[in-house]
Amino acid sequence: MGMVGGGPGSFIGPVHRIAAELDREIELVAGAFSTDAGRSREAARSYRIEEDRGYADLAQMLAAEKQRDDGIDFVAVVTPNHNHLPSARAALQAGLPVICDKPMTATMAQARELAYVAREAQMPFALTFTYTGYPLVREMRDRIAAGALGQLRKVVVEYPQGWLAGEAEGKQAEWRVDPELAGAGGCIGDIGVHAFNLAEFVTGTRVNQVMPDLAAVVPGRRLDDDCTVLLRFDGGMRGVLLASQIELGELNGLRIRVYGADGGMAWRQEEPNSFIWHKADGTTEIVRAADASLGAAATAMTRIPGGHPEGYLEAFANLYRDFAGVLRGKAANMLPGLDEGLRSMAFIDTCVRANAEDAGWTELKI
Ligand SMILES: NC(=O)c1ccc[n+]([C@@H]2O[C@H](COP(=O)([O-])OP(=O)(O)OC[C@H]3O[C@@H](n4cnc5c(N)ncnc54)[C@H](O)[C@@H]3O)[C@@H](O)[C@H]2O)c1
Repeated sequence: MGMVGGGPGSFIGPVHRIAAELDREIELVAGAFSTDAGRSREAARSYRIEEDRGYADLAQMLAAEKQRDDGIDFVAVVTPNHNHLPSARAALQAGLPVICDKPMTATMAQARELAYVAREAQMPFALTFTYTGYPLVREMRDRIAAGALGQLRKVVVEYPQGWLAGEAEGKQAEWRVDPELAGAGGCIGDIGVHAFNLAEFVTGTRVNQVMPDLAAVVPGRRLDDDCTVLLRFDGGMRGVLLASQIELGELNGLRIRVYGADGGMAWRQEEPNSFIWHKADGTTEIVRAADASLGAAATAMTRIPGGHPEGYLEAFANLYRDFAGVLRGKAANMLPGLDEGLRSMAFIDTCVRANAEDAGWTELKI
């Protein structure tokens, strides 16, 4: 694996490294970790890889690695959003598969271009919508698909955070509030998009209309930091999506509740090893990671005996394990890719536009 981004002090680069290497199918061996050559070498040292494989930029990495017998086989794109398209495009056009962090790109136009390039290149492209890698999220999805809740009626998905409630300080925060670097969406693009993807993934149902109310609550902020979006799904289900980065005290409180004619289910990412199932007969079951009733998808994603908590890193590693399978010729199955990327970018784009125009219910089109 060659990485773009993930330099000293970055958040998600080290997470990708740990997740990619957990199953020892993948090894990080090179990177253009920073726009600064010295910091890229510094990152190489901290990742314990050869210092001269910490390159000054992606072009240099692609050229140098191509000359090596043991050169990189794919590229992980973990830079801020504005750089996803240029990096992914360069890697794909150099004949390398790409695994990219969300959101797919900074704008909808860029997402369309990236999808075009990936299809032309006929190279695998995966997106790390992390929460789809949790075993119990997959279990919920499978049970809902098998009809456990009957006709679906309502989904409530929320992603509250509080870390941008004040001035955006520090590297992670700065680019996220800058439209040049983050893209058209602030909170909606950063975490609202996770909630959107999770709602479609768990229910197996697509959103077809949105009614957004996005606000920039912190004075002077140019992008949204607090979002409420009403959703309408194919088949008639209604939904509510809440995403906020100004809810003081909240950390990563992603939560999804799904209700059908025959019951309800609820899962929380801060307690990811179980979900609650309210049944039509009035009883409630707690479905746990260790339960004998778990299906094949969840069992395959569970690494250790129940009661030993698995979490964010393992969910991330599950996506990398699926990606390694794709590189070896297996089907992508539930691994998010171009379709999920385009849909989630359409969600951000439609919410931002409809909100600016106060357009009310607006169709979600790719
Ligand atoms: N899947 C998830 O759960 C999740 C979580 C956090 C972040 N993300 C996504 O990951 C990406 C990075 O977020 P972060 O929080 O790690 O940001 P960050 O600011 O912590 O790190 C970004 C890194 O990219 C480097 N960089 C910037 N431009 C570059 C370029 N042109 N070439 C090489 N390196 C470059 C910076 O030097 C820095 O090291 C964003 O797209 C974000 O949306 C996803």
